[in-house]
Amino acid sequence: MKAKVLINRENILSTIDDRLYGSFIEHMGRAVYGGIYDPSHVMSDNYGFRDDVKALVNELKIPLIRYPGGNFLSGYNWEDGIGPIDSRPKRLDLAWQTIETNEVGIHEFMRWAKELRIEVDMGVNLGTRGIDAARNLVEYCNFSGGTYWSDLRKKHGTEEPFHIKTWCLGNEMDGSWQIGAKTAEEYGRLACEAAKVMKLVDPSIKLVVCGTSISTLPTFGSWEQTVLQHTYEHVDYLSLHMYYGNHENDISNYLAKSLDMDRFIKGVIAICDSEKARIKSDKTLNLAFDEWNIWYHTLDTDKQIEKWQVARPILEDIYNFEDALALGCLLITLLRNSDRVKIACLAQLVNVIAPIMTETGGATWRQTIFYPFQQVSTFGRGKAMLTRVVTDTYDSTDFSNVPFLESVVVENEESEELIIFAVNRSTEELDTALYLQGYNIQSIRECSTMAGHDLKAVNKKNQEFIRPIPNRHIRQNDTCIEVSLPALSWNMIRLKI
Ligand code: AHR
Repeated sequence: MKAKVLINRENILSTIDDRLYGSFIEHMGRAVYGGIYDPSHVMSDNYGFRDDVKALVNELKIPLIRYPGGNFLSGYNWEDGIGPIDSRPKRLDLAWQTIETNEVGIHEFMRWAKELRIEVDMGVNLGTRGIDAARNLVEYCNFSGGTYWSDLRKKHGTEEPFHIKTWCLGNEMDGSWQIGAKTAEEYGRLACEAAKVMKLVDPSIKLVVCGTSISTLPTFGSWEQTVLQHTYEHVDYLSLHMYYGNHENDISNYLAKSLDMDRFIKGVIAICDSEKARIKSDKTLNLAFDEWNIWYHTLDTDKQIEKWQVARPILEDIYNFEDALALGCLLITLLRNSDRVKIACLAQLVNVIAPIMTETGGATWRQTIFYPFQQVSTFGRGKAMLTRVVTDTYDSTDFSNVPFLESVVVENEESEELIIFAVNRSTEELDTALYLQGYNIQSIRECSTMAGHDLKAVNKKNQEFIRPIPNRHIRQNDTCIEVSLPALSWNMIRLKI
């Protein structure tokens, strides 16, 4: 089978916001306790955070991390996580039916993120709490001093404000599972008032208002419309959440699910722009896809895990090869919408539906999905090009006209390279010609692929066999670059320009 990828140097889609490669750490499962934090581990630093986990996080080049939830956020009292660790309360976390020890709170997490040079995207609880707790938290984190909350921060050892720039106004407030779930009307009013006071404390902050938590909810669309009617001029981003999975064990349908992500994003953009038109605003609202990933392996099995333990090991999906391909399609979809999606958070980072796995007290390893994310986050910086893909298509159970080739091209001026990301959804090899108008291609720096594995094969401790390897089937001719993309493969090509 044959395909073409065409770009023209003049046709730029967007300057990619680095925060497109954000991630997420929630107080749930073994993400924090037994994940990033494990004080008795031999590799832990003086504060109890694992250096071996930090090293893997560093490999992912994450610019931003959403914290502390998630569903956890909607029942969380942030004040429980400040002050002397020994006197912090142990609480029931009703969202995940776990015991929360509060050993890690704002100061500990901010120190960890600062060391890794990751910006924190902090959530305020709009489930059980409201505008008072939200404004106090902004004052605690961002006000310089001389007031009750800012002085308390200093008393707890942090003289300089944390200067947290991005804040989430609650989490998934439309979901019936959410503690303190609200109607669109109730949430829209509350989010608007919380936004106002938070920006009164610190006018420089940027706010993310909750959109739909799953695009299949019957309230999708009307939720956004109502919430934006209340908040449009007070917020900076609207959130989207979505998880995919191969529930029906049908690879062609599974790999097509990125088309649903694309439709979802375009639908939300249309809703934002219709509100902009209605109120005649000059402001264009951008999107924060602040939870996205593959999540399905543990949906049933987690029900058997004993409740009310600390660090209950839930959502520990072990990803296989086909999950890496599906994730690659989702990453390309985010890039193809990067003119409006400015923040995205792979949910989550460690142990909980995560690219990085740990044993509590033991080893770490990279899951299959680690690699496409790492390659895109490392090299997919700069400008996303309007990328035309000419390819045959197929129909699957839920989708029509699915392109066999999913691809996007990025130009990185700083490193003087063009980077092509591509997934071959077909079970045949795809001979692909890259026509790169306006560029002088000097050399092929790298051509790598993840291919040829059993679709259900997984990585394990000391067995990270599913990873990119060189693809030598690439050559440059007078008019284009020709590359053969293996059947069912994730690919990255880097060209020096
Ligand atoms: O990431 C796991 C959970 O998925 C989050 O807590 C919640 O926001 C979403 O439903």
